[in-house]
Amino acid sequence: MKVAYHFIFLILLFSSCEPSLSEKEIRQYKEQGDQIVKSASEKLSGTLMSKMKEGGPLEAIGFCNQSALPITKKMAAYHDVEIKRTSLKIRNPENLPNEEELKVLHYYEDKLSEGKTLNPLVSLDPYGKPNYYAPIRVEQKCLMCHGTPKQQISSPIDSILKVKYPEDLAVGYREGDLRGIWSISFPKLEK
Ligand code: HEC
Repeated sequence: MKVAYHFIFLILLFSSCEPSLSEKEIRQYKEQGDQIVKSASEKLSGTLMSKMKEGGPLEAIGFCNQSALPITKKMAAYHDVEIKRTSLKIRNPENLPNEEELKVLHYYEDKLSEGKTLNPLVSLDPYGKPNYYAPIRVEQKCLMCHGTPKQQISSPIDSILKVKYPEDLAVGYREGDLRGIWSISFPKLEK
C-alpha cells in the first residue's frame, strides 16, 4: 500500500512540473491539424492529378520534385506552423524524420501490424511546442511512383527517379502500407 502511495505521489510530482496540454487544447490542435492536413493533401494531390492529365507521370514527377516542398512551406507560413511529410523510407533527403517523428513512425508501424486503426496524435515536444501527427497510407494511385520498380513503376519513371533521387528509399510499397506521416509543429505554448 505504501508503495502505491509513493507511486501516486511521483506521478503527481511529474505531472505538475512537466508542461502538458489540457484536453481542450488537445482537441483544438487536433481539429486544426486535421484541417491543415486536409487542405494540404487536397492541394498536393489535386495538382499532381492535373499534371498527370496534362503530361503524364513524367510531368507529375517534375511537379513533386519542384513543388511539393514549396507548397507545404507556403501553407505553413499561412497557418503560422511548420508542416512536414516524413517517413521511415524517404525519397527526398530534406524530409528526414527527427527523433520525435521517428518514435511516431514506429508507433504507427506497430499499431498497423497489430491490425489497429491509426488515428492522429497530439503531443508536446521537448521544446514545449504542440505537435500534430497523422498517418499517410499508400493508395493504389501512389504505386506508379512508390510501388515496385519495373512492375508498377515503369522504366522511364524508374530512370528519372534514380537520377533525381539517387538515394531513394520510397519504393516497394503495397496498398495500405504506412507511407509516412504528416507532422505539424505549432508555435510554442506560452503558459
Ligand atoms: C508521379 C509520381 C508520384 C506519385 C503518383 C506519388 N508520389 Fe509521393 N513522391 C514523389 C516524389 C518525386 C517525391 C519527392 C518529393 C520532394 O522532392 O519533395 C515524393 C515524396 C513523397 C512523400 C514525402 C516523403 C519522402 O519520401 O520524401 C510522401 C509522404 C509521399 N510522397 C506520399 C505519397 C502518397 C501517399 C502518394 C499517393 C496518394 C504519392 N506519394 C504519390 C512522387 C510521387
